[in-house]
Amino acid sequence: MQTWVIGNWKQNPATSHEAGALVQGLLAAIDAKSAPIACQLMVAPSSIHLAAVSTQIKGTLLLAAAQDISAHSDSIGAYTGDCSAQQVADAGATWILLGHSERRQYHQESHEALIQKLSCALKQNLGVIFCIGETQAQYDDDQTLDVIDEQLSLIKDLLEQQLEIGNPLSERLLIAYEPVWAIGTGKVPTVAEVSATHQHIKQTLAGFSAELANISVLYGGSVNADNAQDFATDSMIDGALVGGASLKVESFLAIADAFGQNSE
Ligand code: PGA
Repeated sequence: MQTWVIGNWKQNPATSHEAGALVQGLLAAIDAKSAPIACQLMVAPSSIHLAAVSTQIKGTLLLAAAQDISAHSDSIGAYTGDCSAQQVADAGATWILLGHSERRQYHQESHEALIQKLSCALKQNLGVIFCIGETQAQYDDDQTLDVIDEQLSLIKDLLEQQLEIGNPLSERLLIAYEPVWAIGTGKVPTVAEVSATHQHIKQTLAGFSAELANISVLYGGSVNADNAQDFATDSMIDGALVGGASLKVESFLAIADAFGQNSE
């Protein structure tokens, strides 16, 4: 199966100059490699850097994702501060992150808004990296699978509708399992725990529709150059969504190498 390594830059770097230098460093290091990287690489810059980064990576193997879109993407107009699906696509994004726990937590992103955003993204033919995962308290209460079931059930109808109208979701949807307690903390679940959760996610999606049976499921939360290999060797883990370690060329490419070795 194709593997994916996606850098979620969040609200980094501080300047467009640094963002440009990060991409330049990444492209130079990829070029200098003796063998090509075998996984699909993607970066998700902040919206202010998206267009410049997209221009820089044009014609390379890197893809660009946006970190968010407006729930009001169906029209242009009076939505101060928002960027529509059409605008991020125009800026060069071909993918988008949705449902990240930081947006759910700091922006009170409701399920309703999330479904609207998902619908707008798919209408715009953007690929979607849909993030799900439990909090520390839910993990401690052994509720991980219940939380995941609830988060996936909310998008079931929309996914089914999209399949009915012929949207090839197997090419446009990735699930990122990100335990909230593992994000930016240095704490990670065991590979066996992630593997079992991914198996559950894959079975749940296959239960929605046979056409969703092959959706890739990525792990995110404190993935770094040291632990990537352990996650990459598990057949249920199809890639990584990487925050902090994606901001340094060396660690991001070490993670890409680990998953590349397990790509088919
Ligand atoms: P982290 O972030 O790798 O810094 O834990 C992952 C994410 O939030 O996507």
